[in-house]
Amino acid sequence: MTRNQKTIVVGVTGGIAAYKTCELVRALVKRGHRVKVVMTEAATRFVTPLVFRTLTNEPVGVSLWADEPGSPVHHVSLAEEADVMVIAPCTANVIAKLAHGRADDLLTTTALATEAPLVIAPAMNVHMWRRDVTQANLAALSARGVTIVEPGVGELACGDVGEGRLAPVEEILAAVEVETARARDLEGVRVLVTAGGTHEPIDPVRYVGNRSSGKTGFAIAAEAVRRGAEVTLVTGPTHLADPFGCTVVRIQTALEMHAAVMERAADADLVVMSAAVADFRPADPADGKIKKAEAPDRITLVGNPDILAELGQRADVRAVLVGFAAETSDVLEHARKKLAAKRCHLIVANDVSDPSVGFGTEHNRVWFITSSGAEETGLTSKNAIARTLLDRARKLLPAR
Ligand code: C5P
Repeated sequence: MTRNQKTIVVGVTGGIAAYKTCELVRALVKRGHRVKVVMTEAATRFVTPLVFRTLTNEPVGVSLWADEPGSPVHHVSLAEEADVMVIAPCTANVIAKLAHGRADDLLTTTALATEAPLVIAPAMNVHMWRRDVTQANLAALSARGVTIVEPGVGELACGDVGEGRLAPVEEILAAVEVETARARDLEGVRVLVTAGGTHEPIDPVRYVGNRSSGKTGFAIAAEAVRRGAEVTLVTGPTHLADPFGCTVVRIQTALEMHAAVMERAADADLVVMSAAVADFRPADPADGKIKKAEAPDRITLVGNPDILAELGQRADVRAVLVGFAAETSDVLEHARKKLAAKRCHLIVANDVSDPSVGFGTEHNRVWFITSSGAEETGLTSKNAIARTLLDRARKLLPAR
């Protein structure tokens, strides 16, 4: 296998459009990819494994139980080998399983186990496609960062006319190539990500905090790991589990985040400050719990250091600096000012006055602002934002 060759795991599920997957597989092989096919039992009723075996020159997986004794667990090895996984056609049934994390055959187990980006190309009867439960399942998958290659409209095998035809092979191929280009494109890049809010103590049990969930920063860290980066995540308190494969430093306060970032910034190639660092902290936190009867009339606040601005000033920090700007008005204008004031290379700005996006939700709508312009994403998942952010930041890295 050459260094740049990518492994694409192609999942085939039981729909008549499975015959078109032969063309997809052939095209992927022609482009120099190593292709491994995994089929559901139902898919083998439409196309035999021998067809894919012949097209790929690789064994085709169908059963969870067919491993030779002593061979690596097949679904895990496939999941680990995959740079990208694509399921085409993807039936309503498999979409439902993926949305709920079910893993009852080799294909769905591989999809659940893999860290690789997942592309699905649904194909089904128009009524099944339109069913609210199918659309809800697709929305759930999209929110988790799965790329959905929408089916086309036309005559369906069942005789109905409407949405549900498998998208043209070229479209599926293009979606796979977008993900393939990303696969391991951050190999060797050292990324420092901050996430979550900070807790600024009033006394040992009370704090001043903010509503940041940490989701965006965690999504960025996970995406950077997937793309081969060496990632350190410095995070304030969140309910989220450590992303796989990165070093996690958990802190409570802005001063602790400051220390953790300063210590590591000179070794980073990219710093993404997605944390909602508290701008102020109580000047004099009490050593013991303040009694109800002794409640102070006011809490005096003092400013916290601006971590990002300080990084922008430090001569030994050569990393590409990405800052976030949560604004409630004149988003672009404020963000442009922040870009200059903090001397960073990219600002990701959003409007936090809109309750449907941002803090705590799965979605956001952001602007990417550099010295050369601004671009809006439209409403999209935080995973998709993480992906686009890293695409843009990567372009700002000095040539390696
Ligand atoms: O100035 P403002 O807080 O709006 O800037 C937000 C950006 O600056 C974010 O990237 C945030 O992580 C960073 N920041 C920081 N230190 C602070 C406050 C914000 O690094 N004390």
